[in-house]
Order: sequence, then C-alpha cells, then structure tokens
Amino acid sequence: MTTGFVLTQEKELSLDEIKELQAEVRRLAKEKNAVILAHYYQRPEVQDVADFIGDSLDLSRRAAQTDADIIVFCGVRFMCETAKILNPSKKVLHPNPESGCPMADMVTAEQVRMLRSKHPDATFVAYINTTADVKAEVDICVTSANAPKIISKIPARKIVFLPDQALGGWIAKQVPDKEFILWKGFCPPHFEFTAREVMKLKEKYPDAKVAVHPECHPKVIELADFVGSTSQIVKYATTVEAKRVIVITEVGLKYTLQKKNPEKEYIFPESMNYCGTVYCCTMKGITLPKVYETLKNEINEVLLPEDIMERARKPIERMLELS
Ligand code: 13P
Ligand code: SF4
Repeated sequence: MTTGFVLTQEKELSLDEIKELQAEVRRLAKEKNAVILAHYYQRPEVQDVADFIGDSLDLSRRAAQTDADIIVFCGVRFMCETAKILNPSKKVLHPNPESGCPMADMVTAEQVRMLRSKHPDATFVAYINTTADVKAEVDICVTSANAPKIISKIPARKIVFLPDQALGGWIAKQVPDKEFILWKGFCPPHFEFTAREVMKLKEKYPDAKVAVHPECHPKVIELADFVGSTSQIVKYATTVEAKRVIVITEVGLKYTLQKKNPEKEYIFPESMNYCGTVYCCTMKGITLPKVYETLKNEINEVLLPEDIMERARKPIERMLELS
C-alpha cells in the first residue's frame, strides 16, 4: 500500500507531519505484528511511537519475552544485537545501522582473548554495552541496573570487567571482597560531565538531590545522592521527596521524567564544554522518518553469524537468570 510519504531526505517535520508519521508507524506496527522498543535516550517523537521504553536490562527482558514477528529497536547497535541473539528466528530491524555505541567499540574480541590468556583464573564480565563478538568471549553480562548484585554472586575472586572503567570502578567499591581488573573504556557523553559543573549546580540548588548514571567519571559519582541505571534514576527522581533533582545523564531522560512526574523540576547540566547540552549522537541518530522507512520496507535487518549468536547468548542468559 502506498502511504503518501516519500522520505528520501530528512527535513525538519512540522507538528502535523510528526503526528501523521507517528500514526502511520503505529498502523504499520499493528499490521505487521511488530513491537517497537526504545531506549530512554531516544528523541521524544520516537519514544512516543514505542510499545515499550526502558533501560538496557528492561529492553533485553522485553526482547526475550516478545511474541511479535518483528522487533524494531530504537537504540544503539549492541541493543539490537542483544535482541537478535535472544530471538534468532525473528526479524530485528535497526532504524539507523550507523548508530553504534562508541564505548562498546573500545574493546575487541581479540583483546578479550589476549586478556584471558593473562588471567586464566578470572571470571570475565562484560557490560551489556559490548559487541556480539565480545559477548561471545565472556562468562557473563551485566547492565548498570544489576551489576553489583550479579558480580557479588560470582564464585571467583578475580573479575575482569570490560569495557567501562567508570562503571567497573563503581561496582568494585560495592563488592570490596573481589579483585577487579578494569578495561579502560569510557562513555564519551557521560565523561563530558565534570565534578566542577555538578558542584556549581549543587551550590545553585542547595535543596536538590543529585542522581548520577554510573558511566560518569568517578569524581562525579562521588557527588551523587543516588547512582543507578536510567530506569532506576527515573524511579528515584520521580519519587524522592525533594522537589528538585539534578540529573547527570544523557538529556533524553528528561522527557520521561517530565511525563512521569511533572510536579518536580529536573535539572540537567548545560554542559560547560563547547557542545552545549550533552547528548549521545548515535542514540539521536534514530529519527522518526528512519523508524517509519525501516518498518515500512522491512530494511536494516540485524544479522549475525550463527556461531557468534550461540556463544553470545550464554552470558546474556546467565545475566537474565541471575537478575
Ligand atoms: P542504561 O542501561 O542505564 O539505560 O544505560 C544504557 C546506556 O547506554 C547508558 O549510556
Ligand atoms: Fe554508548 Fe554512552 Fe551513548 Fe550509552 S550514552 S549508547 S554508553 S555512547
């Protein structure tokens, strides 16, 4: 069926065009028995067409449970790969195949194999923000929502954690009986936030609580009243007694926070760096026209080698069992 939308090039859409396109996406999703999953960092107009919005753990669980024929994943590549690994017979579509996670690309499977030969007695733990190839080399995966809980259950004393040094350092403080070897990866947008910037906000809003994502620099984490995954920050910030919350994570989360509890004020840093507001460019690379074209034409399918999927599924399933 022709829909009347010809979108070879992206232009700024009017509100009416956005609404029309959203309605068309929803109609197609129903017609094709597709589920649309979106991360909190997605653009508001993309979040609004999703069946489900969540953090990495929520989205992996949803992907594991869905009975839809098609999964349209509005997030970065490792999230789509996780959905495909958990649903090898389903069509998983990624509206922008160029949207990867720079941190996930900071470690390769070969580097993990080399590290394994140096530390044969360690349990290898990968943040979910890793490529499928890397997951195929490790023992278990974690997300920022379940990492300390899962790692404290691992029998080995020595843990190799990759790729996020900030998350790894935060976990190590909470599981002090283990020895951690941390890979030196980091999240470029989260590392943009500085302790100086957070201190300034605390001075300006002395009554505010501070919620921080654990991908932030350790000096920023030290200033937090609460540290957690995006979903955990949503729960904390929308229910904490304080009227104002300083939120140190990607700005996409603001949309959900305001929708869930508009009574509170959510302060996101207007970063002091040259870019202005800190955002994750690759998350924002998913646009509504791209979601529409991907679903309509069933393009941008996520495909992975069978053997990699089989090996990468084990650490993800171990994580889902333990969390
Ligand atoms: P969450 O699992 O907390 O949503 O984090 C995912 C992510 O990529 C944050 O940068
Ligand atoms: Fe990767 Fe950071 Fe973007 Fe999350 S915010 S997808 S960790 S680059």
